[in-house]
Amino acid sequence: MLIFFVTGGAGFIGSAFARQLLRQFPTCKVINFDALTYAGNLDNLDGVDEGHHHFVLGDIANRDAVMAALAEDTDAIINFAAESHVDRSIASAEEFIRTNVLGTQVLLDCARERGVRRFLQVSTDEVMGSLPEDEKAFFTEDSPFQPNSPYAASKAAAEHLVRAANHTFGLDTVITRCGNNYGPRQFPEKFLPLMLANAMDDQPIPVYGDGLNVRDWIYVEDHCRAILQVLEKGRSGAVYNVGARNARRNIDVAKSVLDILEKPHSLLRFVKDRPGHDRRYAIDPTLVESELGWRPSETWESGLRKTIEWYQTHVDWVTRARSGAYREFYARQYGIEVGAR
Ligand code: NAD
Ligand code: DAU
Repeated sequence: MLIFFVTGGAGFIGSAFARQLLRQFPTCKVINFDALTYAGNLDNLDGVDEGHHHFVLGDIANRDAVMAALAEDTDAIINFAAESHVDRSIASAEEFIRTNVLGTQVLLDCARERGVRRFLQVSTDEVMGSLPEDEKAFFTEDSPFQPNSPYAASKAAAEHLVRAANHTFGLDTVITRCGNNYGPRQFPEKFLPLMLANAMDDQPIPVYGDGLNVRDWIYVEDHCRAILQVLEKGRSGAVYNVGARNARRNIDVAKSVLDILEKPHSLLRFVKDRPGHDRRYAIDPTLVESELGWRPSETWESGLRKTIEWYQTHVDWVTRARSGAYREFYARQYGIEVGAR
């Protein structure tokens, strides 16, 4: 029986990945290890096959907790657990260093001690910094590290530690670097679900700076399929960039969302820019396509429609996600209350 140790599996991408594992390998065992921070949500795991999925509440930076949950014959650790929001890292970096850097090292050490067969680190295109506006520039696996935010720097540090574990100790590791995911169950601090939640409620949509920053969007299920293929077939020690060739300006993304929801563009509000805001991300996915045969299944149009439908039919999920501490974060970040017009 295959045993997978998924960290951060109550978050947005990790929960989609846990579901995908259980569909792909119905007899496997998934240990889902998550600290349930503000971004972790057990509702994200509603309906998973409890016979094969075991949730463990724990912190990846806590060695004893990881060792207690990690079975001897674990086939793979897939590390999604992270502090993931750039704006929060600008407000305070400490948790990012603890979880993203220290936590990754703890997992690597435990993987070696338990003889785990493969370690997959879920990384981000942000470790490569910002591209020029020239539309011919793309991130490749050879692009230099130039992380610009504390979040990106912490993810870059984690990649270095994974590489070192492979090089020095021979741990079988692979790394994926993806761009901006969208889809069901994304916490509404991120641009796309924040827009959806606000627009559905006729609240203004905050657009940072001039709105011309470019992000490369991918549907979450496509990202998860790429991770699975890298896990199964990726070369030990390799890095794979994952992208759906879907780079778009923020302002265009915002207008598409409003158009589908049939809401007026007058909801858009240009607000103070994010400090150090990366201008453009665009991923060249040639390696993962040619070597592993991965291709995205969703187009931007089909993925966006699915995403919007999910948020429209899960208003309770959105309401719960936006209660409590979220309200304090929102007021601090945007200078207005959630729900203010
Ligand atoms: P998320 O913020 O939605 O979820 C993170 C999960 O990690 C939560 O369930 C949280 O409870 C858990 N967690 C946080 N600290 C923990 C700790 N110390 N111990 C155990 N669990 C902890 O994040 P996401 O958007 O699903 O991103 C998942 C991973 O993918 C991250 O590593 C992120 O850097 C990477 N990534 C995200 C994107 C994106 O667009 N969202 C793109 C590329 C890479
Ligand atoms: O590229 C991959 C990365 O994508 C992941 O590693 C991160 O975990 C994930 O959060 C995401 O980072 P971004 O900073 O690109 O995502 P965010 O949703 O915060 O912002 C997307 C773009 O929208 C960015 O240019 C900033 C802008 N933005 C964001 C918010 C929250 C706004 O204009 N207004 C907003 O209110």
